[in-house]
Amino acid sequence: MLDLLPPLIVAPMAGGPTTPRLVIAVAGAGALGFLAAGYKTPAAVEDELRAAGRVAHGLNIFVPRPAPADIEPLERYRRLLRPEADRYGIELPPLRLDDDDFFSAKVELAIAYAVPMVSFTFGVPEPVVVKALRDAGSSVLITVTSAEEARRAMASAPDALIAQAGTAGAHSSTMRPEEYRGSSDAAGVLAAVRAVADVPVIAAGGTASAADVRVLLGAGAAAVQSGTYFLLADEAGTRPVHRVAITSGSYRETVVTRAFTGQPARGLRNRFTDAYSAAAPVGYPAIHHLTAPIRAAAAERGDASAVHLWAGTGFAAARSGPAAELVESLRP
Ligand SMILES: Cc1cc2nc3c(=O)[nH]c(=O)nc-3n(C[C@H](O)[C@H](O)[C@H](O)COP(=O)(O)O)c2cc1C
Repeated sequence: MLDLLPPLIVAPMAGGPTTPRLVIAVAGAGALGFLAAGYKTPAAVEDELRAAGRVAHGLNIFVPRPAPADIEPLERYRRLLRPEADRYGIELPPLRLDDDDFFSAKVELAIAYAVPMVSFTFGVPEPVVVKALRDAGSSVLITVTSAEEARRAMASAPDALIAQAGTAGAHSSTMRPEEYRGSSDAAGVLAAVRAVADVPVIAAGGTASAADVRVLLGAGAAAVQSGTYFLLADEAGTRPVHRVAITSGSYRETVVTRAFTGQPARGLRNRFTDAYSAAAPVGYPAIHHLTAPIRAAAAERGDASAVHLWAGTGFAAARSGPAAELVESLRP
């Protein structure tokens, strides 16, 4: 499958934007789409694998993070968020530390469905997991954000790496969430990763035009993975509050923040990121679960000020329309 990799991959976008319809539509236009297993139950992932059917596609899985050693910073953050709970009339849940996002069950599904390409983010899967997938016929991709992470990932013997830049929308896969600032660009991370890894490297982050794709392919990328550009696609499941924010013109910049989930992620700067980014501790997925009811209540009201409006630095280029047309407009 890696030999047949098209130049454009439409990124897995968990939390709603990726739908089987989107994956099928981009495949029809000659790109490769990834289903996003993150946050979903195994049953929901299986439904999507069935819906994608025989259309070439990938599956993306979150690697579980170790539980934080010290939960006091998380408890402190929980107390700090009380005014938000009052504002939206919800109860903050107790801290939930034990969520592995059904990692093993999702790997089993990828094996059972012989998914052609399986990518991982948030960490490096054990060599035994990579081997099991490869034995079942899948190509395995691991997302990294630096040369150091690329070296660690290579120890698990993947088929390819995804070099994710700081410009990328949504969560960074960084394994150093304390110090991550999101300051790297796609060409820089691509070069750094290629220098230490002798497998194909896919570039991700900030792509906003066919010229961007062309430059990265010219710099040696095996393909370019683009997410934000497809958030407004007709077939995407992006929530109305998110779509409106991207197109409103009211949001002029993106920031990297741990405020919503405890893992650095890039999104449109809003009231919540201004108020809480400085105080937010490292702690995915505990912080994700903690803020989820706030974000849900805000989204329900159409109030974007406390919603995670994930977007990469190229968000101003995103536009609505059939995904096939968007693929066409990025054709290098
Ligand atoms: C809304 C959104 C959700 C995302 N969810 C995932 C995900 O579930 N898994 C993953 O590996 N990457 C995810 N990403 C990151 C993409 O894989 C990719 O790194 C990023 O979209 C590239 O940067 P760009 O958004 O500027 O094109 C997401 C990106 C966005 C915008």
